[in-house]
Amino acid sequence: MKKKGFTKVLKNFTSETSIFVIMNLSIFKTNCINSIQTQVTWQAPSNIALIKYWGKHGEQLPKNPSLSFTLSSCISTTALDINPISKGTNISFDFYFEGQSKPEFHSKIEVFFKRILPYCPWIANHHITINSQNSFPHSSGIASSGSSMAALASCLVAAEELFDDHADQKASFLARLGSGSAARSINGPITVWGATESVKESSDFFAVPLSESDYHPIFNTYCDAILIIDQGQKKVSSTQGHRLMENHPFGVARFKQAFQNMVNLIKILEEGDLDAFISIVETEALTLHAMMMTGSPNYILMHPNTMEVIQSVWNFRQETKLPVCFTLDAGANVHLLYPQKDAFQIEDWIDHKLKAFCREGKIIKDKVGRGAKKV
Ligand code: DP6
Repeated sequence: MKKKGFTKVLKNFTSETSIFVIMNLSIFKTNCINSIQTQVTWQAPSNIALIKYWGKHGEQLPKNPSLSFTLSSCISTTALDINPISKGTNISFDFYFEGQSKPEFHSKIEVFFKRILPYCPWIANHHITINSQNSFPHSSGIASSGSSMAALASCLVAAEELFDDHADQKASFLARLGSGSAARSINGPITVWGATESVKESSDFFAVPLSESDYHPIFNTYCDAILIIDQGQKKVSSTQGHRLMENHPFGVARFKQAFQNMVNLIKILEEGDLDAFISIVETEALTLHAMMMTGSPNYILMHPNTMEVIQSVWNFRQETKLPVCFTLDAGANVHLLYPQKDAFQIEDWIDHKLKAFCREGKIIKDKVGRGAKKV
């Protein structure tokens, strides 16, 4: 692999610190590959952010670092059939989702391929047939861009036959260019995307996993029950939501808060302090939705039943002292997070009291997982 190339210097300012990350992006450029003829299949899971990525700049770079639990049951499986063709002017690919051709996804995939072309130039003289499927229903309201972009990126890196330490980093780097949160689905169970003083080797360009010695063992088996409150198409996409953070009246304060929450959460994860964990996770979820409600134009993605569930979580926690908390993605669904040792009691309450707030009683019981893998 060629090691020479341009270097980017990134600056992220917080009130007290400035972090300089120097990244030689040419390590991700596989200019030496001319011809690939292969079939590869990878699966990658969805992830749920505890510190939220909400606001970006440049080419898919985050305004603040984010941290997530990688899940294990909500997965995308993607198979690529790659064949050489004579060099054309267009990127050449077909896309099938669950066996059906899906032209509506073409433009997003084409944007992705164009963005990654400097790093995988061989794509310009290959035809790629993509077959993808999800383990979770398409209409569940669970965002599939994280898992599907991570699975696609993993296939491309596998096709390049990179087996060194950079393979995971490159997969995360490419996945980010498809969808920011996808960068965090390559590894698990806890990953950080975005430069932060608290995580060595953290970067705005790709996500890195926390090493096992950096977090309390309780988080190795943490559970996530996903309450499907609304399965419709989102009124405002995440991409539009990120854009509304550009001139948001509370943007600067929000980014500063996220940097600080990251520093605090890293310490909390190490200590296993569940009260402090709950406080940060719920604050992040509500702040994400507060940003939506206070931008211009403003909007609300929570549903009345989202509020019912939040209130029930607070009541239940006060009554039982069990460490269950909620987080939200950019939609109405609620993720309930709890340690496995308390799963019996908490899931009994979920099944008896919260099912009624879910669309057709739908709940997906998931837990943290290890990231993308070859099928
Ligand atoms: C609320 O990764 O979907 O889930 O980079 O435009 O594809 P794009 O956005 P996306 O944003 C995810 C936002 C979030 C928070 C998070 O996952 O960190």
